[in-house]
Amino acid sequence: MKLNIPQAIRWTGDELYLLDQTKLPGEVVEEKQETIEMVWHAIKQLKVRGAPAIGVSAAFGLIVGIRDATNLPLEKFIIHIAKQAAYLDSSRPTAVNLHWSMVRMVNKAKSQSANSSAELYKALVEEAEAIDQEDKAFCLAMGEYGAPLIKEGMGVLTHCNAGSLVTSGIGTATAPMYVAHQNGVPFRVYADETRPLLQGARLTSWELQMAGVDVTLITDNMAGHLMSKGLIDLVITGTDRVAANGDVANKIGTMSVAILAHHFNIPFYVACPSSTIDFASTTGDEIEIEEREWDEVTSFGSRQTAPEGIKVCNPAFDVTPNRFVSGLITEKGIVRAPYRENLAELFDAHQSR
Ligand code: MRU
Repeated sequence: MKLNIPQAIRWTGDELYLLDQTKLPGEVVEEKQETIEMVWHAIKQLKVRGAPAIGVSAAFGLIVGIRDATNLPLEKFIIHIAKQAAYLDSSRPTAVNLHWSMVRMVNKAKSQSANSSAELYKALVEEAEAIDQEDKAFCLAMGEYGAPLIKEGMGVLTHCNAGSLVTSGIGTATAPMYVAHQNGVPFRVYADETRPLLQGARLTSWELQMAGVDVTLITDNMAGHLMSKGLIDLVITGTDRVAANGDVANKIGTMSVAILAHHFNIPFYVACPSSTIDFASTTGDEIEIEEREWDEVTSFGSRQTAPEGIKVCNPAFDVTPNRFVSGLITEKGIVRAPYRENLAELFDAHQSR
């Protein structure tokens, strides 16, 4: 069965198109990225969002930012590449895939024995395309490893959007769902609405519905009630950064869901490609949490829902302590506690960041 799912990032070989996720589900609009500044703003404004998608679009965004500079001498071209990568890296702080992808592109530029800037440019296009293809493959592998967790008749809760919209492929948290669905397993998904920006309502319920998965939208504060009624058997979320000890940064509200799941004895899994593991952060305390604009909280859609001048706190992510995580679904299999040892054993903890 072929899946009907949206594509967030489209690379034509020399042009980058991003689906504007701020307009979904009302309008499905692709935007051609003419400049690196456009890509920076697309990431900042969440037109493209979710950890892997930010990494992939930044890799192609870097190509957009350097393609008119191949007339520079090679040494100067490499300096220009590093500057442009640092600029894109500054667009959002929490999802480590962005930093990972920029480091990987700059390392490629520095280690490539190219004879000219044009030759180096070509190698970097190939590297960005490799990041894109790898992400697609990671999603499929996470789907294969995670799908057996979903048994017939289960209710599966997810938070935020960790779907095809956040990757080049079938998503991270949604990958096991899509594979189980393709295998003909009947199950229900509950999508948390995910205040304040409604990624669950606008994006997860939209793409799962499009794919024909049985999905029900709930507001964030309903999860505990549904768990108490026995409607949730499994939780799967995505992540923006996993520390070396298995602490998980993800969309604000994820930690509350994990604690609720722990209380009700419901397994809580996190889908996590290796590009989202940050061995440089020894624990979740070291992960920078993005604080976003106040008006995301004082309004609902275009309607103001709070008094003028109210004080607002708007952290976009939280950190779930590793003890609440039943397992990390990676492209190399499901990793369980003790996370520090098991993650380091499965992945290269020394890769440069
Ligand atoms: O602020 P967003 O919409 O970029 O946040 C996205 C999330 O928190 C996702 O759950 C996370 O990136 C995992 S997606 C692989």
